Amino acid sequence: MDRAEKYYLILTFGCQMNERDSESLSGMLEDLGYSPTESQEDADIIILNTCCVRETAESKVFGLLGRLRKRKTANPNLIIGVCGCMTQQEDAAKRIRHSFPFVDLIFGTHNVHELPRMLQQVQENKEAVLEIWTSEKGIAEDVPVRRKDKLKAWVTIMYGCNNFCSYCIVPYVRGRERSRKPEDIFKEIKELVKEGYKEVTLLGQNVNSYGKDLENTYRFADLLLDLDQIEGLERIRFMTSHPRDFDRRLIQVIASCRKVCEHYHLPVQAGSNRVLKQMNRGYTREHYLELIREIRRAVPGASITADIMVGFPGETEEDFEQTLDLVQQVRFDSAFTFIYNTRSGTPAAKMEQVPEAIKSERIQRLIELQNKISFENNRMEEGKVLEVLVEGVTKSNADRLAGRTRTNKLVVFDGPLELSGSLVPVRIKQGRLNLLEGEQVPHNTMDMC
Ligand code: SAH
Ligand code: SF4
Ligand code: F3S
Repeated sequence: MDRAEKYYLILTFGCQMNERDSESLSGMLEDLGYSPTESQEDADIIILNTCCVRETAESKVFGLLGRLRKRKTANPNLIIGVCGCMTQQEDAAKRIRHSFPFVDLIFGTHNVHELPRMLQQVQENKEAVLEIWTSEKGIAEDVPVRRKDKLKAWVTIMYGCNNFCSYCIVPYVRGRERSRKPEDIFKEIKELVKEGYKEVTLLGQNVNSYGKDLENTYRFADLLLDLDQIEGLERIRFMTSHPRDFDRRLIQVIASCRKVCEHYHLPVQAGSNRVLKQMNRGYTREHYLELIREIRRAVPGASITADIMVGFPGETEEDFEQTLDLVQQVRFDSAFTFIYNTRSGTPAAKMEQVPEAIKSERIQRLIELQNKISFENNRMEEGKVLEVLVEGVTKSNADRLAGRTRTNKLVVFDGPLELSGSLVPVRIKQGRLNLLEGEQVPHNTMDMC
């Protein structure tokens, strides 16, 4: 490798918000003349963009930092940075400083756009920089971006969260809700379409409250209606939705917008009203079930997925059975399932905890039930012709293509690489647990959804 060139490696943990932030970090580093590398050995700068939503996410970062110590000894010119949600917590930032003194740069979620200045400071002064803003200061627009994908793009429409679910650390590390101006979102998406992007996913911790902090009455539903008019854009997705704020108007709008895909990720977390109340979620199981019924009435064939948690403090066997019952009633297409994990500083940390053995037993039962339903739902797709946005070839077979339906299901089928980036009708032959197998059919066969 030519050492006149400089290389960067960003390792990202956590959710899509972090993935998107890492694309900005990449953009800024490339503007500074760095090129991407996958290899730690070749990198001149390594940045860990961290998550702290559960302990496992934090342990991974500490483990990785431990291993990077050797690399720094071997190459003292290597710059190591840590940013993201974890460093936004004072304790974690202190621990990194103390246990991993070789880290050159520590910054948080609110000053990602300041990377070039902080990096220059590290290089010029040859000393570590720790800069964490305790609160947000507006939104930085026009930050360079280097996206991972050429077809599908993440577009953050709002930052932060005001909900303070009693188990969750996110509002403490991501700050209050701030919506981007509609015109900035438009500008970004129109440029994406010009570059050939077909799909955007609008990101926010609770996209349904988009606009509430803006001065006008422009809300999430208005944004979708307007984005639906952008010529050349094929698919619009969004995440995450909060069941409390997913209102009737939004249901009408998603049903009327052609480009808005029929997949809604609606984290339910728990099926027991008592637990939902303790979680500070702001809705009941009845509200949630009615919401799903209304969505399915307005958008037949809609795919619903969720985040579900077991072992929240005080969760009894009856509470948990209410979760299983809700899962059975809704029949989610898939679900991210989590074992509750104590996050210090959150109200739930002080509540009476459920023993680990019970939590493990419950998650097993939940996963088993959800897998059964996911598989059955996928079998129900057999025989249908679905529109697939082809993303490329599968890792194991160069003649096999992979893509997603509008309902966000993964489909694999035989076909040439040239189909990448196009919308192809595929007849589903076999539904499996996590994907659908199909065959390409002529365009006029489409009864696609
Ligand atoms: N804003 C989104 C998701 C935020 S974090 C929402 O409200 O749905 C993603 C998921 O992590 C959450 O939906 C929740 O299921 C899970 N999660 C958050 N805090 C957790 C904790 N302390 N323990 C276990 N899972 C947690
Ligand atoms: Fe966390 Fe709740 Fe906000 Fe989601 S809505 S980020 S779970 S506080
Ligand atoms: Fe993790 Fe931060 Fe996302 S805590 S889940 S990376 S908002």
